[in-house]
Amino acid sequence: MRILVVGSGGREHALGWALSHGGSELYFAPGNPGTKDLGFNIAIPSDDVGQLVQWARDEAIDLTVVGPEIPLVAGIADTFKEAGLHIVGPVAAAATIEGSKAFAKAFMARHSIPTASFQVFEADQHEAAQHYLQHHGAPIVIKASGLAAGKGALVCKTLEQGTVALDRMMRQHAFGDAASEVIIEDFLEGEEASVFVLTDGDDYICLPLAQDHKRIGEGDTGPNTGGMGAYAPAPVVDDALLERVRQTIIEPTLEGMATEGRLYQGCLYVGLMITTSGPQVVEFNCRLGDPEAQVVLPLLDIDATELMMAVAEERLGNTRVKCSSGAAACVVLASGGYPGSYRKGLPITGLTEASEQALVFHAGTAMADGSDTEHVVTAGGRVLGITGQGRDLKSALNGAYSAAAEIRFDGLTLRSDIGWRGLAHMQQKR
Ligand code: AMP
Ligand code: GLY
Repeated sequence: MRILVVGSGGREHALGWALSHGGSELYFAPGNPGTKDLGFNIAIPSDDVGQLVQWARDEAIDLTVVGPEIPLVAGIADTFKEAGLHIVGPVAAAATIEGSKAFAKAFMARHSIPTASFQVFEADQHEAAQHYLQHHGAPIVIKASGLAAGKGALVCKTLEQGTVALDRMMRQHAFGDAASEVIIEDFLEGEEASVFVLTDGDDYICLPLAQDHKRIGEGDTGPNTGGMGAYAPAPVVDDALLERVRQTIIEPTLEGMATEGRLYQGCLYVGLMITTSGPQVVEFNCRLGDPEAQVVLPLLDIDATELMMAVAEERLGNTRVKCSSGAAACVVLASGGYPGSYRKGLPITGLTEASEQALVFHAGTAMADGSDTEHVVTAGGRVLGITGQGRDLKSALNGAYSAAAEIRFDGLTLRSDIGWRGLAHMQQKR
């Protein structure tokens, strides 16, 4: 079988790793130096839907799996399906659940899906938004409705911060078109967890629950990043709570999307806040999380090719999905300065030694100009994800950190407390 993975980050390297066990021929568009070891990197950008479909047709690709949200929101699944090609990922009408937070919030309100109370404002309603903010007070959360590379949600602890956020979004247009609608919503107090739902439009399965660490600093402090690490399973959600999430969130969402003519097929990422009054939706995404994919996929005890094909061929109901009883933890190695500005092109050493101990997933890496595979350099904010696996979270973390210690590059930044909430939960249980 010939499989195309669209994207170039750690998530796509992890997808390729999982799919590589099925013995298929793998292609990545555009991929990274890590995916090159699993198959072939094709020089087509992940958002060039026209070129991708042409290439997939010419190369008789049997299955395409899409990592990032931009091509999904742009309609890559519609285009591939119209061309008669199998693809895992929602069509544009369904991917809108991530592409428009205003849509997602209104959808949740229509279907009584628990989420923070909110109001949506058009870009020219600055005065009304400011009035709403004054009336509601802080803490409060202000979000750009459109895609903003994970940077569109501003948690405002004070009214002053809220005023600045509204000003940036609605007057300075710092978020461009992403803030053509702005959402102001109540701040939810609690612990976050993410559930990844794989669905063929009829049946669905939940992958192991994960928790990521969005903030750059230890103890979950400082500015938001794409994610500095993740672990799965997340002990904050036990079986009873997951059942509640299924009944009050996942099933009403999938049924609601279907009845609104937006049948959802692919992976639905449900970002949850576990509050004292129960689980609430913080966000929906139309894809797997990154770095969460780097811990969730290694826990699957089923061939990923078979699973993805079952989604694409709408026969998930007949597929038995098993997950490992162990745990996985991923530590992200980032460039110094990230999520602000950082240098690129810095040589990376220790990749071979690290990969003898754990899974090493490439994200922001590149081959040094004119060199062979020995010369990998930094090329992005999040450079590598190192995933350890073990019988429990503690041993998974040990594996990830001891492999991460092999890697060196100038300015290497990591958090040394990945999984701290999970470890605390496990201690409580004892
Ligand atoms: P989003 O872009 O909507 O996923 O939000 C990014 C992050 O902002 C979330 O993962 C939370 O940490 C935080 N956040 C978003 N909405 C809320 C909320 N209503 N209450 C508390 N934190 C939030
Ligand atoms: N790790 C957060 C995300 O993938 O959106």
